[in-house]
Amino acid sequence: MNLLSLQLRDFRTYANLNLRFPARLTFLTGPNANGKTNILEAVGILSLGKSFRGATDADMAHANEGHYYISGSFEKQNRMYDLSVGVELSGSKIKRKISLNDKTLSSRQQLIGRLVTVIMSPTDILISDGGPAHRRRFLDMVLSYQNPEYLNNLITYNRALRQRNALLKKIKSQKARLADLDVWTAPLADYAHKITRARLQFATDFDQIFAESLERISGGRDRLIMRLALSAGLEAENPAAAIQKYVSRDLALGYTTVGPHRQNLMFEKNDADITRFGSQGQKRSLVLALRIAQFSYLQKTLKLAPILLIDDVIRELDGGRRGAFVQLLRECGQAIFTTPDLDGLMISDERIRSDMAVYEVDQPGSVNTSVPI
Ligand SMILES: Nc1ncnc2c1ncn2[C@@H]1O[C@H](COP(=O)(O)OP(=O)(O)OP(=O)(O)O)[C@@H](O)[C@H]1O
Ligand SMILES: [Mg+2]
Repeated sequence: MNLLSLQLRDFRTYANLNLRFPARLTFLTGPNANGKTNILEAVGILSLGKSFRGATDADMAHANEGHYYISGSFEKQNRMYDLSVGVELSGSKIKRKISLNDKTLSSRQQLIGRLVTVIMSPTDILISDGGPAHRRRFLDMVLSYQNPEYLNNLITYNRALRQRNALLKKIKSQKARLADLDVWTAPLADYAHKITRARLQFATDFDQIFAESLERISGGRDRLIMRLALSAGLEAENPAAAIQKYVSRDLALGYTTVGPHRQNLMFEKNDADITRFGSQGQKRSLVLALRIAQFSYLQKTLKLAPILLIDDVIRELDGGRRGAFVQLLRECGQAIFTTPDLDGLMISDERIRSDMAVYEVDQPGSVNTSVPI
């Protein structure tokens, strides 16, 4: 799949920007704070519906203008698509309009899976260092791209979970009865079951791809076991029984303590949890291997090459990691990078040089697209 063009109106540093991406690899260069990552963030919004940096809509509207608009054309399996996301803010109200080929999509959920990207950024280290919630987010994002049904189940599960948690608090303060909990057990267990099954299947399918990707990076030194750690014994076979078993603990704590929202994606070497005991280098390799494996997994399951969006990560790679990265760049489809300059990057590689463009964000709000290589 290929992103062919991008238009920004009143987004971050850009009042008005039109870019085309004719080359396979595009390098966005330029001094710090000129707006390179802003462009990747905008592409990310067409893909995910929100900022990969976790920014709010108000943060992203150009100079507090209260609105922004992003659109892009892309090619996917020989068909052309026009996608746009427009946001209007008034006070605390947000009006969002998402369109695909002039048809309005009803939610962000409907957007996910249209423009398929894999984003690599310096904050990826949080997948290792940021705790189980970050690892679940990684898992949920890959599965949501691969299967829209999964995202639906997750949203419904989270809704039921919020209702049950609110009820647990009410029961604790004697504003509701214990028997009222039963209404939520069946729907919660049903969706917990679907999500857990999909995650366990993913852990099995992803395992080999992840092992290969890690092998490429560390040359076989770091053999890690990836597994989904469940939150209770009965969770996989009989989630309703697992939920029932922990009712008194849930009541004492005031929230649901069993289910997909408490699961953890674990990475272990000789039974030691790498996210807790690994060295900096091991954790960086883990995270890079996960992103490369995410690319291969989506490529295999969706039968198309996701677009790589790479925010500033190349420079911090060393030795084997850089080699694996260069190999990925030879094999991948389209990739867009940000980097202050091209010094020290391996662009002497012929397969890379032959199809690349360099754009310079020469001042905030403007991009020079005719930079000689
Ligand atoms: N809503 C906004 N309106 C106008 N300017 C903004 C807005 N949000 C951020 N900026 C400006 O955007 C710039 C940061 O852009 P960005 O993160 O894309 O920079 P960068 O080129 O990637 O820098 P670095 O090389 O340091 O990563 C800052 O100067 C910031 O003030
Ligand atoms: Mg940046």
